[in-house]
Amino acid sequence: MNKPIAHPWWDAFCVASIVGIWPRYCEPRMLTTNYVTLKIKDLPSALQGLKILQFSDLHLNPSQSDKFLEKVKRKAEKFAPDIAVFTGDFICQSKLDPATANKLLHFLTTFPRGRYGSFAILGNHDYAEFVSVNSSEEYSVTPPTATPFMKGLKRAFSRTLTPKAMQRTVHDVPLHQELLALLSQTPFRLLHNACATVPIQGSALNIAGLGEYMLGRFDPENAFKLWDYNYPGIVLAHNPDCVPHLTNFPGAVILAGHTHGAQINVPLVRKRFLCMENPQYKQGMIHVSDKWLYVNRGLGALMPFRWFAPPELLCLTLVPA
Ligand SMILES: [Fe+2]
Repeated sequence: MNKPIAHPWWDAFCVASIVGIWPRYCEPRMLTTNYVTLKIKDLPSALQGLKILQFSDLHLNPSQSDKFLEKVKRKAEKFAPDIAVFTGDFICQSKLDPATANKLLHFLTTFPRGRYGSFAILGNHDYAEFVSVNSSEEYSVTPPTATPFMKGLKRAFSRTLTPKAMQRTVHDVPLHQELLALLSQTPFRLLHNACATVPIQGSALNIAGLGEYMLGRFDPENAFKLWDYNYPGIVLAHNPDCVPHLTNFPGAVILAGHTHGAQINVPLVRKRFLCMENPQYKQGMIHVSDKWLYVNRGLGALMPFRWFAPPELLCLTLVPA
């Protein structure tokens, strides 16, 4: 009987490609552009066909590929948005060293502007200290890690964490003043528990932006205070876990990020990377009571590793129902 031909090096290369080369070097650069048309009840004629561009979870750091960032801008420019929105996590683990600051400032000032304005909210990486979920399933202040790969690897083999409480110290984390100063030099208007009513050809669109849920800064009472009920609107919320608390507030669609689409989006492992109160809000368009929630997979990550969760831009067009 003939012995089967063995190709150990080829087999090793294939395995390495699947588990290492693809998710590390290929998928994080595979930008997808999702064109979505959303039907809105009683949409004023001036807002019919309004184009909203959403990008999220930039997680900018000096090693991020300039080629990839230029591709993001090109795709956004092609869509020619009426409104551009960013839904949190500009940076990684609250780190804003000079190289990151320069890169972020350049990216945001050269990013295609929305015809009627560009708006942004903060994510859990964008306050003065980084907050994540600890092994006791609490939202807690987390020291930055120099080895995100090791952290990711550990998480892949640990139990699924479902946050249940918030440590008191989280409430004391201040805003990131350097980041706020940088944002003030860009066309992006920060909405931190605030609302903007944007005039559009005799009509208007409300845009409410929420503070981060994981830091106890989620304050819808204040965020919707200036909402003009004569007009429709959209809501920006970084972490989709806040969505069950928004059912009694206005807004036809909530745009969120944070999850990275689980990032390692494979059975058994994906829930361990989500660390969510509501892991069903993983990605894409989801109907939640009478609203739509769109969870964007974002563009970057602390750990540059993606598997079946490529980075994305959302190009949303509003049409009448
Ligand atoms: Fe986040």
